[in-house]
Amino acid sequence: MISADVVVIGAGAAGLFCAGVAGQLGADVLVVDHAAKVAEKVRISGGGRCNFTNVHTEPRHFLSANPDFCRSALARYTPADFVGLVDRHGIAWHEKHQGQLFCDGSSLQIVDMLLAECDMGGVRRRQPCAVESVARDGTGFQVATGDGPIAAGRVVVATGGLSIPKLGASDFGYRLARQFGHAIVETRPALVPFVVTDPRWRPFAALAGLSLPVLIVAAGRTGEAEFLEDLLFTHRGLSGPAALQASSYWAPGTDVTVDLAPGRDLGAELVAAKASSGRWLDGFLAEALPRRLAEAWLLAWPALAERPIAELRDRDLVAIGESVHRWTVRPSGTEGYRKAEVTAGGVDTRELDSRSGESRLQPGLHFIGEVVDVTGWLGGYNFQWAWASAAACARALVA
Ligand code: FDA
Repeated sequence: MISADVVVIGAGAAGLFCAGVAGQLGADVLVVDHAAKVAEKVRISGGGRCNFTNVHTEPRHFLSANPDFCRSALARYTPADFVGLVDRHGIAWHEKHQGQLFCDGSSLQIVDMLLAECDMGGVRRRQPCAVESVARDGTGFQVATGDGPIAAGRVVVATGGLSIPKLGASDFGYRLARQFGHAIVETRPALVPFVVTDPRWRPFAALAGLSLPVLIVAAGRTGEAEFLEDLLFTHRGLSGPAALQASSYWAPGTDVTVDLAPGRDLGAELVAAKASSGRWLDGFLAEALPRRLAEAWLLAWPALAERPIAELRDRDLVAIGESVHRWTVRPSGTEGYRKAEVTAGGVDTRELDSRSGESRLQPGLHFIGEVVDVTGWLGGYNFQWAWASAAACARALVA
């Protein structure tokens, strides 16, 4: 029978990183993945350039039923630590928007780096190799795989979330957690476009492809957050960074509120515009918003659209301004796991040790990365969680 000190299930971002660190610290590590290729999500991430971390990472950038859980791992493996590793591998990178770091070249450089780190640690890999079950065996575990049984001292579950099933995503990690007595915080697609079917939406569907900076506010089970990001109109609803960020907080049956002209007070500007003769509402809105959006907007105010601003009542002008600053949309749903960048929810962290990801119920069983109920904002935070939770676990494996 094959045996290893540590069997890591899942050769994604967290699994490979954990294996490499633990191997280099002296552990005998075997990584098993049912997919033919490693780290497929790293490969497709960041539009092929992998937004591998965010320099501003703080616990507030993560959603969880237990918001303090991520603190320890994030504090002990920082974005600067990962940048140091990237630099040692000679991978060129640049900072984009709001602290997001991307490869100058290809995300495959990060995949190659993870594999090189595993090689340096003498990590063994089995792929494609289906994992059928994990059972307790004395103080260790027996892992049944398509290639036969593996005896493991410890098992690290790094099977990720449910998004993009065609890239190898599975619910195996959640099933395993339940089998060993763990609760799962309800999972849902996150960082995902909204679908809107409300009849009032119809004029906006024609705006597909239009993008503009907005302030978006979403509230849900996990609190409320607002984001100043670009919003993209699609045929089916709303996308772009603003919608993706809001989707992680959104609860079905609730509205998303959008300020389409952040930083301005259109109501006050319209009232002030009464003083200058010859100004019309359509011209004013076309200056404040992209023209196609302004035209769609005026469909809701047909009686006012055709009169000079000077003839309109202040309260109507203030209401028009308010409608732009507090546009509410009620999504009918999201595009689901097929399009979601991540899965929110997951293995309940209240039963895990925050310094190691180890189960409090089953000694020797660890959970890291996205399978855990820690979900980052858009912008490199999810990879930083993968690296940090993996590093914390790896150190504990050899302690
Ligand atoms: P990950 O999904 O990486 O790996 C899980 C591994 O487990 C896979 O290799 C899978 O095959 C394997 N597995 C699953 N079930 C198994 C089973 N039953 N048996 C054996 N193996 C099994 N984040 C970010 O910070 N910056 C970015 O730029 C992006 N971009 C991005 C784009 C797109 C399109 C997506 C879908 C996602 C992102 N993300 C991102 C999110 C990021 O990719 C994600 O959070 C991490 O990859 C999570 O790392 P894990 O290792 O936890 O799971």
